[in-house]
Amino acid sequence: MRIFSDIDNDGSADPAGVRERIRANLSGVGATLALASVRGGVGKSMLAVNVAAALAMKGRKVVIVDADLNSPSISAMLGMKPQRRLPMIEGVEPAAGPHGLRVVSSDQLPGGEAPPISFVQDYDQADGNGAEPVAPAPTRPAELSYREALSRILSHSQLGSVDLLIIDLATGLDRLSTLASMVTLDGVLLLTHPSAQDTNAARNAMKIGRAIGAPIVGIVENMVGFNCDGCRAVRPLFPEGDLNGIAREAAVPIVGRLAFEPRLADTTDRGVLFVREYVATPTGKVLADVANQIDAMMIASRTRAADTLG
Ligand SMILES: Nc1ncnc2c1ncn2[C@@H]1O[C@H](COP(=O)(O)OP(=O)(O)OP(=O)(O)O)[C@@H](O)[C@H]1O
Ligand SMILES: [Mg+2]
Repeated sequence: MRIFSDIDNDGSADPAGVRERIRANLSGVGATLALASVRGGVGKSMLAVNVAAALAMKGRKVVIVDADLNSPSISAMLGMKPQRRLPMIEGVEPAAGPHGLRVVSSDQLPGGEAPPISFVQDYDQADGNGAEPVAPAPTRPAELSYREALSRILSHSQLGSVDLLIIDLATGLDRLSTLASMVTLDGVLLLTHPSAQDTNAARNAMKIGRAIGAPIVGIVENMVGFNCDGCRAVRPLFPEGDLNGIAREAAVPIVGRLAFEPRLADTTDRGVLFVREYVATPTGKVLADVANQIDAMMIASRTRAADTLG
């Protein structure tokens, strides 16, 4: 099977060198978890902030990398203001968020830009022959590829000692493939809706994940029903696909099923942490349980890695 990295290789940087720089830069990271989905808007960023916050409140040192470079949402969901930070070339400290959480995001990076910031850099003003630039100074940005921008972010961020690095990806397994070509992932959490189409896409994701070295260690099924105030039961939102069968076939656990909870949409929009404000609700309990399962998986993964080393 051809894999995305066969196709998505712009040749802009020596892949082995990039991987080595990133590995050195992430040497203080205990475990790395990516949140991925085949289809958009399934709740990756919502889950990232709530799982990270639940673990941070337990005393874990957690950093979230918002790898959705064009439309970052993590800072806003955590109630953080976009800030000017040190230029990437000098190395970037993650921005400080609530409960000791730290965030690396494209809306927290280069100084002087008003967010949102695309992953672009200024054109080199020289013409390549050492001549002076032609006036007026160019204002058009030169594009970096996603791969190049992400590798810069990962190799320049000064993360220090971290228990869990959560990487919140933009939608699409091509993004996961790009990430997996740079970082050794301890696991990937796949988010999906219950519809038959999403469920079929999840089946493909399991196979692709294995092929690209991005092991899917758990699935979260989101928006499985609507829990309205006046209803006695949770009402289905989608005609359901056979996620149980697919998870069984791939031997991957479904680590959580979340109903549609209007207060969850509201809190993420306002930058308020659901797992702190609504800890005792059914959704709060599912989120806390997912966080605990991830914590256990990541501890197990670190222990396995330590055993392998010696
Ligand atoms: N169970 C839920 N109940 C209510 N709202 C939810 C639920 N899950 C997610 N949302 C809301 O749905 C929207 C999409 O979620 P989110 O941005 O986390 O998805 P995503 O997978 O990160 O999207 P993208 O593909 O754009 O990155 C957000 O407004 C979020 O608050
Ligand atoms: Mg997102």
